[in-house]
Amino acid sequence: MQVAYQVLRLIAGGEFHSGQALAKLCNVSRARIWQAIELLREYGLEIHAVSGKGYSLLNAIELLDKELILANMNQTCATRLSQVQVLNQTDSTNDFIKRGMNYMQPNHLVVAEGQVKGRGRMGRGWYSPLTKNIAMSFYTQLKVAPKDLPKLSLVVGICVMKALESLVGPFPGCGIKWPNDIWYNDAKLCGILTESMQAKEGALTPLIIGIGINTHKIDLPIEAKVTSIEEMTGRLISRNQLIARVMDELVVELKRFEQVGFAAMAQLWQHYDLLRGQQVVITEGEHQSHGLCEGINDLGALMVKQENSTKAYFNGEVQVRPYAVVS
Ligand code: BTN
Repeated sequence: MQVAYQVLRLIAGGEFHSGQALAKLCNVSRARIWQAIELLREYGLEIHAVSGKGYSLLNAIELLDKELILANMNQTCATRLSQVQVLNQTDSTNDFIKRGMNYMQPNHLVVAEGQVKGRGRMGRGWYSPLTKNIAMSFYTQLKVAPKDLPKLSLVVGICVMKALESLVGPFPGCGIKWPNDIWYNDAKLCGILTESMQAKEGALTPLIIGIGINTHKIDLPIEAKVTSIEEMTGRLISRNQLIARVMDELVVELKRFEQVGFAAMAQLWQHYDLLRGQQVVITEGEHQSHGLCEGINDLGALMVKQENSTKAYFNGEVQVRPYAVVS
């Protein structure tokens, strides 16, 4: 795979490169270049081969780039990060951090061009094809009580929304679906997987905040309600820039959350909340219930009015109830 990434970096700009030139630059045989091109095609990249000209990408790609990410960040953020690490491909950026946490400094950001075992909430998978979306994980440590962790994951969703809006502006129909998915017109645009580790007595809580953002339109191998920034806005944004904006928000808002709690974010939550006032269905394992969503409570749980009482949900998958089945 190493040669394939070398080739990808050489052809990312969209110009033609002959097999011979690529072989020379990568210091391998032309057969190895051909294999690398086939591998990249298998990973979904559209590569032209024209005799006499060589290989070129159908659409030029701005690959993930540490310097570009740092250049797009504000100074506060750039100085707070201990490291920005760009990977070609990994199993899962959250798992990559889990394996390395013992030697990593807190405030370490990992981004990857692709994941082969991306993980979602509730044991689901997360599809991250090479170069087509953002897979980022941030390792940090915060003073946060276990009871406040659900609210922290809401803060992350708000940060991504703010970062997205700062780049593409507000889009009606785009907002947060509790706890922290970002949806646009009934399809998912971004998912967040926040994992916390047990803190030693009196110590800060280690956290891994994993964020997956669908930037490009992709054909999923399974049927799912998924959309992308490309489909929402009609254009491709710079992934490096969006990563930087998300981090700008996260470093400031996580600190604020640590100091003053969720209260400072409550109004923004209401502004972005897609579920309040909607009839919803909540699925917890095998069990389904439904009711009218009344927003969140002080603990960050979803409040759902059912018959004569209102129930707080801390877990579960929520869907807006299709109109036809409301009884
Ligand atoms: C979900 O909505 O189910 C959460 C999806 C989280 C996906 C991101 S992509 C970066 C990080 N690495 C992972 O394996 N998962 C998260």
